Order: sequence, then structure tokens, then C-alpha cells
Amino acid sequence: MEFRIALLPGDGIGPEVVAQAVKAVDAVCRKYGHSTVYREAPVGACAIEECGQPYPESTHRLCMDSDAVLFGAVGDPKYDNDPTAKVRPEQGLLSMRKQLGLFANLRPVETFPTLADKSPLKREIVEGADFLCVRELTGGMYFGEKGRLDGGDTAFDTNIYHRYEVERILRLAFGYAASRRGKLTVVDKANVLESSRLWRQIAQEMAPSYPDVEVEYMYVDNASMQLIRCPRHFDVLVTENTFGDILTDEASCITGSMGLLASASVGEHTSVYEPIHGSYPQAAGKDIANPLAAILSAAMMFEYSFHLPEEGRAIRKAVAASLDTGFVTGDLAADGRGFRTSEVGDRIAEYIANDK
Ligand code: IPM
Ligand code: MN
Repeated sequence: MEFRIALLPGDGIGPEVVAQAVKAVDAVCRKYGHSTVYREAPVGACAIEECGQPYPESTHRLCMDSDAVLFGAVGDPKYDNDPTAKVRPEQGLLSMRKQLGLFANLRPVETFPTLADKSPLKREIVEGADFLCVRELTGGMYFGEKGRLDGGDTAFDTNIYHRYEVERILRLAFGYAASRRGKLTVVDKANVLESSRLWRQIAQEMAPSYPDVEVEYMYVDNASMQLIRCPRHFDVLVTENTFGDILTDEASCITGSMGLLASASVGEHTSVYEPIHGSYPQAAGKDIANPLAAILSAAMMFEYSFHLPEEGRAIRKAVAASLDTGFVTGDLAADGRGFRTSEVGDRIAEYIANDK
């Protein structure tokens, strides 16, 4: 098969980690007889510099005309401490999500046995954790009406959800739960928020259609505690945009490194695959960033967009091998020194090529 892949490396370490993901994709395609056409486009701060917009129309057209998007990261410290900045790199990510209709963000959390001691949590707590966070991505406070009143001294963001938005994300989450261990945790704040009560009402209406899925409801404050108290409790966790943003960062520390968490954003048009870490500007250009999350995002691309689980597994196996043999970047290395980003990428591509 031939795949048309849009590369949106973005800012900071984005280009370096996406380059390693491309090496893994190429190795897998060579091995299984597929071919790829890569086309690159700017997003984030580099797009603001080049075109004045964080998600230019030309970048959007490229995404729409591709089979999948490999995304790096956006963000630049230049914009972080300026609350008056008119355009921000992060708007690029938000516009892309909205325009591509990417209403679901899937973030699997799995522990690698060799890394259990890297987690800030005890080994016996994190061992065996394996769950999928399903975060709603195009609604809620991120996109609801926002503004200032009283000459700027009052500010508001609206947490608004429509029935169709809740139904489509819950349908997806019920489906994933049915294909995994059959347990769905709906996370909300229904004791306080009206929008959460709508979520809970709709989940209760839908539950009888999924007799094989056991549904539980959990308040978000409690969920944030249970995630690190007993992560094995979870199978599929579904929640709205802002809660999902916060909980998935928290969940990333279970695996021991943010540099390991991959994600897929899926919805109405082309799906986007990206590491959950940010642009890590301090490391940009130094060839030290951990490329594994980007490489695992490429594995998700084969599984979710191309329906080629074997190709995905080949990438995962190579990542596991690099972890087992200590061929990792400084953030994971036992002595803190580690290998370069590009060396880890080369080694993983080699492993894929040579593995029987
Ligand atoms: C994420 C990020 C984004 C978000 C930012 C960069 C806008 O934190 O993908 O989780 O808040 O969704
Ligand atoms: Mn986030």
C-alpha cells in the first residue's frame, strides 16, 4: 500500500523527534512492502514566523489531502509570558483539532517492566497498569464562548457541551471498552457542573446498549487520586476536554517518562498522531530529546489509521528492545548520559529491519 503522510514537525524538539518516527515508518514500510509519500508543512510558532498564522490554510489543505498526520509539538517561550500576545503557537493545535474535527484524543498508558523504577510512584503500584484515556477534544471550555467584561477586569470561559458531542465520544469509548477488558469509567464533576450532569445522563442512556461493558462514574477529583493510588483499576477512562488534559498529564508519570506517551487524535477527517510531551525548547537542536513517544505515535498510526496491527507491533517491539537493552536517551538512561536522539532512532529502525 502507499500512504500519504503529512509531517507537521512544529517547534522545539518537534522536528528531531518526528525525524526519528519517520525512520521507524520507513523501516516498517520497507519490511512489509509499503511505500510512503511525505509532505511537510509548518504549524505553531514556526508557522507564525513564516506565514503569520499558527495553522495556515495551506497546512490544513495538506492534512485534508493526506492519509495521516505525524505531528511534533508546538510552543515557544517567547509567547508564554505574554498574556497579551494576539496569536499563540498553541492556537495552531486548537485550530487543527477543530478544522479536522478531531473530537477524540486517545492516550494509552502502559507500563514497560524495565522502566517501572523510573516512575515517581512505587513499582508495586504502577506494575501492570494498562488503560486508555479517551479525552474529548473539540468542545468544553477550550472552545466555548470566552471573553472579558468590566473593561477587562472580569473574564469568563464557557464549559458548553451539546448532546451530539457527548454521544459520539461516549460511543467511541464504549466501543474501546468492549474490545478491551469491558470496563468504562466516566469521569465528571456531576455533583457541581450542569455540563457533567448532561454527560452522566447520556452515558446512563447509552449503557444498556453495551451489555458487555461495566460502567462506573467517578468525580474528577477522586479520579485524580485513584489514578496514582491504583492505576490498575482503570481500563478505559472517558472525560471532557479540560479534565482530560489535566488527567492525562498526571497519568503520564505512571509510565515513568512523559517521553514515552503517544497519542492519536481521531474524528471526522484525517487523524493526527503526536507525542503528548511539549516542544521542550531547552533541548531543541541538541539531539538529546527522547524520540520514543513520537515513534510510538507512528505505531498507533499503523494500527488506527492503516489497520495494520502487525506493522504497529513491529515498531512497539523495537521500542521495547531499545528499552530492555538500555539504548535510550539521557532521561531514561541508568547513568543519566544516554544516547543521542538520532542514535536511538537509527537503532530502532535497524532493529525493525533485522528482526525476524
Ligand atoms: C495537550 C496540550 C494542549 C492542550 C495545549 C498545547 C494547547 O497541553 O495536547 O494536552 O491543552 O490540549
Ligand atoms: Mn496537555
